[in-house]
Amino acid sequence: MKYYFTLLIVTVYLFGRGDIRGYEDRILNENVGLNTESLVTKYNYPFEYHSTITEDGYILSIHRISHSPKNLPNQENERRPVIFMLSGLWCNSGAWLLTGPEKSLGFLLADRGYDVWMGNNRGTTHSRNHTTLNPDKGSAFWDFSFDEMGAYDLPVMIDYVLNYTNQEYVTFIGHSQGSTAFFALLSERPEYNDKIKLAINFAPAVYLSSAQNPYLPYVNNNINKIKITLKLMGIHEILPMSPWIFNTSNKFCNDDAITQDICMELIFMFGGPSHDQFNKTLINVITTHIPAGASARQIYHLMQTYDTGLFRKYDFGKRKNNKIYGTPEPPTYNVSKVTVPTFLYAGGRDWMADVKDVTKLSKELPNSIGIQIVDNMSHIDFVWAIDVVPLVYESVFEILEKYT
Ligand SMILES: *[C@@H]1O[C@H](CO)[C@@H](O)[C@H](O)[C@H]1NC(C)=O
Ligand SMILES: *[C@@H]1O[C@H](CO)[C@@H](O)[C@H](O)[C@H]1NC(C)=O
Ligand SMILES: *[C@@H]1O[C@H](CO)[C@@H](O)[C@H](O)[C@H]1NC(C)=O
Ligand SMILES: *[C@@H]1O[C@H](CO)[C@@H](O)[C@H](O)[C@H]1NC(C)=O
Ligand SMILES: *[C@@H]1O[C@H](CO)[C@@H](O)[C@H](O)[C@H]1NC(C)=O
Ligand SMILES: *[C@@H]1O[C@H](CO)[C@@H](O)[C@H](O)[C@H]1NC(C)=O
Repeated sequence: MKYYFTLLIVTVYLFGRGDIRGYEDRILNENVGLNTESLVTKYNYPFEYHSTITEDGYILSIHRISHSPKNLPNQENERRPVIFMLSGLWCNSGAWLLTGPEKSLGFLLADRGYDVWMGNNRGTTHSRNHTTLNPDKGSAFWDFSFDEMGAYDLPVMIDYVLNYTNQEYVTFIGHSQGSTAFFALLSERPEYNDKIKLAINFAPAVYLSSAQNPYLPYVNNNINKIKITLKLMGIHEILPMSPWIFNTSNKFCNDDAITQDICMELIFMFGGPSHDQFNKTLINVITTHIPAGASARQIYHLMQTYDTGLFRKYDFGKRKNNKIYGTPEPPTYNVSKVTVPTFLYAGGRDWMADVKDVTKLSKELPNSIGIQIVDNMSHIDFVWAIDVVPLVYESVFEILEKYT
């Protein structure tokens, strides 16, 4: 483990900097470097940018594809079923689009007549702003974890979409930590059950104690050292969107680079290996959008969830917990309050949201409408696998037809 970490850091530092000679020639995939808007409009889909502000001042952007060029509205005010999507840790709306209109869920849902809205959680590329706090100065901006995404981001985004579209409810589609925010919100504020007609969650990161990721025990055992080191270095943001990662990826991960397989294995470190489902040509499109940034506390909270096996609020330590929550232990989220009809997907190759943990969650939900275990999916395959349409999305379309 240590060896891999050291190797990763040394590689990135030694080779990652400096200019990229011949960089343009190596762009074999024309979607490399296209931001969300350009990616959407390139395929003639309408792109809309919306923004809203949370109670605690974060300025969030929401991206919308209101319809597809293949499926134009019949009339001016046609009301289409609204789908609200929320991506996982280190991801933003780009995750629902980066494989293009043939394979990405954002496009495919628009083709099927849905009004597609894609949220961006606080701290990620398109939501890295605040009314008073500066993300580049000090730690205050970064004092959040998935608790705040459930408590502030998701409800304000859903309310914005409902108000804007003048509809009564949305269908929620979440991936990984997007799903975590969904379960956190509905456990705490059950009145939101009435605003969501149906929820589909891919690889929900709610229980993590069975996670097979071999790096997690190492990180977990060293979490205090990691915390102190990052704090001393003044690092509060982990893996932000950076031209430097993008350039490094363009240099070492393109189809001509002998190092491309190393890039692939680095990506597999997070969600699990899935060689036959990963399209290596897409790496530089992926690094155009991901990583999109996260707070250090998000990672600590994830590690707490892994360590305790409990889905509960952030643990500040006994003294501060007493002050904030009034109890020495953080409160547990009660997922039996989630009454929205909910369908879960779990991947057999997922290193984070293990099939056992997703099954456990499914059993605790009072209104589970099913769980599907897809053997060949890793954690992130749910957004970019080569066969994601036949293996996963076709059944998603059926569930949507049936329930909306
Ligand atoms: C951040 O938000 C402020 C308004 O509070 C705005 O003036 C500024 O342009 C925004 N910055 C970016 C990078 O969007
Ligand atoms: C709801 O939408 C209307 C226009 O679509 C806007 O004027 C109003 O400010 C919105 N209200 C909220 C609470 O966002
Ligand atoms: C990334 O590459 C571009 C194009 O070669 C270059 O202009 C830019 O300075 C590079 N940025 C960094 C941070 O390396
Ligand atoms: C991989 O992605 C590239 C670029 O989008 C695409 O041309 C190619 O068909 C994809 N390969 C597979 C096996 O899906
Ligand atoms: C969780 O919520 C359910 C449904 O509201 C309730 O019956 C149960 O007592 C709650 N459990 C805890 C530990 O609060
Ligand atoms: C899943 O992967 C295995 C190899 O790991 C392969 O034999 C099988 O055909 C794949 N199944 C599907 C449905 O792609």
